[in-house]
Amino acid sequence: MKKTLLPLLAGLAVIASGCSNLERSRDLANPNVPAAVTAMQVCSNCHGIDGNSVSPNFPRLAGQQTAYLVAQLQHFRSHERADPPGFVYMWGISHHLTDDQIKGLAEYFAKQVPKPNAPGDAQQMAAGKEIYEKGVPEQNVIACAACHGPKAQGIEAFPRLAYQHADYIVKQLDIFQHTQGRPGTPMEAITHPLTGENKQAIAAYLQAFPD
Ligand code: HEC
Ligand code: HEC
Repeated sequence: MKKTLLPLLAGLAVIASGCSNLERSRDLANPNVPAAVTAMQVCSNCHGIDGNSVSPNFPRLAGQQTAYLVAQLQHFRSHERADPPGFVYMWGISHHLTDDQIKGLAEYFAKQVPKPNAPGDAQQMAAGKEIYEKGVPEQNVIACAACHGPKAQGIEAFPRLAYQHADYIVKQLDIFQHTQGRPGTPMEAITHPLTGENKQAIAAYLQAFPD
């Protein structure tokens, strides 16, 4: 009897350590790994543990709208969002995620507190604020605030833009304007009349988003 107990205990220990590994697992294909663990073990490497990424190559996710985050993860998974950094970085990562995992990840990042960035060039930021709030009537550019909100906080499918990296914003505006990388959104028509200078100004303003 005593002899059979040892392997049994050893077996239990393996199961127990398997459970605690779930708390540190990087396995994106295992839906039993809690979303917060995936966020902290995997997504944090690029997006930051609190969603405030440091490198402009990686968009900030902190405080982003849940509905928008869900939609983007689904669009990477379905390959509908197909701009080059999107497919290089996010197609593989989203491939095995279930809808429940996506919802949990979106909720994790939506509740993180977005951190402001240092202000950039004052003149550029003033020009960006003007476009953001009022558009450019003579170029047929409509006000961004109409959808993204007066504080650029976003609402549901309209993303938060405040404190986002300027480089990332310019890159996305170029994608909407010139490519089919993010199809089927109002942003295609909205970016059509924007000049390079307009885009730089808006991005400088949004990155700092001074009150
Ligand atoms: C190796 C780096 C890397 C990792 C790890 C990573 N991402 Fe990303 N992510 C990126 C890059 C780069 C982009 C920008 C893609 C683009 O420009 O289309 C991005 C874009 C996104 C976006 C779209 C943001 C927006 O504003 O539209 C979401 C949402 C996202 N990632 C969520 C996640 C989640 C959740 C995880 C973890 C499961 C994760 N990412 C892991 C690099 C990464
Ligand atoms: C009619 C509503 C509407 C207006 C007006 C609008 N947007 Fe958008 N914008 C959207 C929607 C919807 C999306 C999400 C697109 C998607 O799902 O891919 C978006 C996405 C974006 C993104 C990508 C964010 C990210 O995290 O990847 C940027 C940048 C952006 N808009 C900037 C602007 C700017 C600058 C203006 C003003 C010139 C503007 N938007 C005006 C609806 C709007």
